[in-house]
Amino acid sequence: MSNDAIRLRSVTRRYGAGGTSVTALDEVSLAFPKGTFTAVMGPSGSGKSTLLQCAAGLDRPTSGSVTVGGTELTGLSETGLTLLRRERIGFVFQAFNLLPSLTAEQNVSLPLRLAGRRPERARVREVLEQVGIGDRARHRPAEMSGGQQQRVALARALITRPDVLFGDEPTGALDSRTGREVLTLLRGTVDRDGRTIVMVTHDPVAASYADRVVFLVDGRVHGELAGASAEDVAARMTGLEAAPC
Ligand SMILES: Nc1ncnc2c1ncn2[C@@H]1O[C@H](COP(=O)(O)OP(=O)(O)OP(=O)(O)O)[C@@H](O)[C@H]1O
Ligand SMILES: [Mg+2]
Repeated sequence: MSNDAIRLRSVTRRYGAGGTSVTALDEVSLAFPKGTFTAVMGPSGSGKSTLLQCAAGLDRPTSGSVTVGGTELTGLSETGLTLLRRERIGFVFQAFNLLPSLTAEQNVSLPLRLAGRRPERARVREVLEQVGIGDRARHRPAEMSGGQQQRVALARALITRPDVLFGDEPTGALDSRTGREVLTLLRGTVDRDGRTIVMVTHDPVAASYADRVVFLVDGRVHGELAGASAEDVAARMTGLEAAPC
């Protein structure tokens, strides 16, 4: 059994065809070991979101292979991909993407309902407690702060107990204190529950919560740092942005 939650081998993603085509990912090979927290950084347009979408089975690479817990995604049908995402993968975005007419509790229950499973109220409450908003179960998104809404989104991603949690700038819309609280929760799901996290961020402080930071430039991996401080990450980013194309 592989020790990797996700593995990408020579993944290329090209958008469009002919002279106007864009290579968003160019032969990217990366492994995300189980129970680790990886941050992905790089300039705007370097392919970070595309990498996440391909790794999470939301998008299909033009070439190369992606395996999730040993399952090769390339050969899966749309239905197979949907089932795999539902059972093994959670996703949180910068925009919380909550349904405005539903309460926190109902938003969190949604993935289970979509999977045809009856959500147990005790389980929903447990996850809301876990992210620190047990007292907001009956509130609708408009009645909550940004940090509380992101906690609901996190609870919604965790309700199915996914092996891997992907975040595309999950703290991008939060102030720094609230962002840190969410990052502490993410760190906790890795340390306590052995979950694997891959998080895109522009913020060196956010990246310092990760075990490893992978840098992308023009769709290619451009080195990585392990156990880096926010200062180390910021210095590397400055170097990358200054590098000639
Ligand atoms: N659906 C699409 N159609 C065409 N080109 C796309 C599409 N999605 C992304 N691209 C292009 O692919 C490249 C990588 O985009 P991507 O969104 O992965 O970058 P990113 O690193 O997430 O940037 P940001 O930090 O701004 O979010 C960019 O040049 C972008 O314009
Ligand atoms: Mg992006």
